[in-house]
Amino acid sequence: MPEGKTMKAIELHAPGGLDHLRLVDRPDPGAPGAGQIRVRLHASSLNYHDYGVVTGSAPSADRRIPMSDGAGIIEAVGDGVTQFKPGDRVVSCFFPTWLDGPPTVSDFSSVPGDGVDGYAREVAVCSEHAFTLAPRDYTHEQAATLTTAGLTAWRALVVNGKLKAGDVVLVLGTGGVSIFALQIARAMGATVIVTSSSDQKLERARSLGADITINYRQTPDWGKRVYEMCGGADHVIEVGGPGTLPQSIAAVRVNGHIALIGVLTGKAGDVPTAFLMAKQARLQGLIVGSRREQMEFVRAIEAIKLVPVVDRSFDLPQIADAFRMQESNAHFGKICLSF
Ligand SMILES: NC(=O)c1ccc[n+]([C@@H]2O[C@H](COP(=O)([O-])OP(=O)(O)OC[C@H]3O[C@@H](n4cnc5c(N)ncnc54)[C@H](OP(=O)(O)O)[C@@H]3O)[C@@H](O)[C@H]2O)c1
Repeated sequence: MPEGKTMKAIELHAPGGLDHLRLVDRPDPGAPGAGQIRVRLHASSLNYHDYGVVTGSAPSADRRIPMSDGAGIIEAVGDGVTQFKPGDRVVSCFFPTWLDGPPTVSDFSSVPGDGVDGYAREVAVCSEHAFTLAPRDYTHEQAATLTTAGLTAWRALVVNGKLKAGDVVLVLGTGGVSIFALQIARAMGATVIVTSSSDQKLERARSLGADITINYRQTPDWGKRVYEMCGGADHVIEVGGPGTLPQSIAAVRVNGHIALIGVLTGKAGDVPTAFLMAKQARLQGLIVGSRREQMEFVRAIEAIKLVPVVDRSFDLPQIADAFRMQESNAHFGKICLSF
């Protein structure tokens, strides 16, 4: 690359917070080395985890480039790269070092946008393992929704949950992970129950195929309601954490599965352990998934023709406004950045 060339990037300056996001010029990272790819990034998508990083509640290094999700086009490949060629459309991996097999990671030190620089930038040069091919026919924005939210929902239901047609899936709320879970579950022949704080969002969930909807503000004992309606859910997409887990335990079927995913109501709290034991249910924590699982998910997307729900897109310099929208909980599905 020519000497002195620069790229645009977003930096998060200490101590974090939406007013500390800065659009800057950074040196262009240049040509890829052996085993590396050069990616021209065109989109990212917002996750609750990114929100924690940019607001400083999940502290990261000064001048960190935020955003775990990135999608774009391969511009060049280094020596020895066999999986990609220039022109391929690609999407980033949440764990660039967890390639295959059982989990090998239990923190965020290797995660782009948290422990290492993320994808709120125009160009990345990185290991070929940090990306996979994107689904055919996806826009960059659609592809960028897969890295975190999409793969988490896939792993919860299909990899860990071994979802079968006819299973009942309970999805909490209508954010990024939950709407992917709704779409995957419907595509695979499950019955889907969705909760939300908003009747309008529940109507949108029904238009996507939700069979039963419950307003969790109007029905605070929604877990009991689910159990009474259908004998319990086979899978619960538990994105709330301690504030919702007691209801999720009430909602799960005997011998069912709760995918413990989120921290929307906090990071610790009381759990009715005896009730969970009596239900003989499986409570499984998970953090996103491996690169192999992302490749399998991409193949499934092409087969079932899943189209992610992108509520709204913002230009990269408007990143703080995008997070303000997420903070207000006005969104349904995903919010994206395009650049
Ligand atoms: N473990 C992992 O691998 C993993 C991966 C991705 C995300 N997560 C976690 O999962 C959670 C969701 O992430 P996201 O990116 O999908 O968030 P998001 O898009 O910001 O979703 C937020 C939505 O959650 C719903 N919600 C909030 N409080 C709720 C409550 N008490 N009960 C039920 N629903 C509630 C709201 O839906 P309504 O407006 O419809 O009420 C809200 O719009 C976060 O805690 C995130 O950190 C974990």
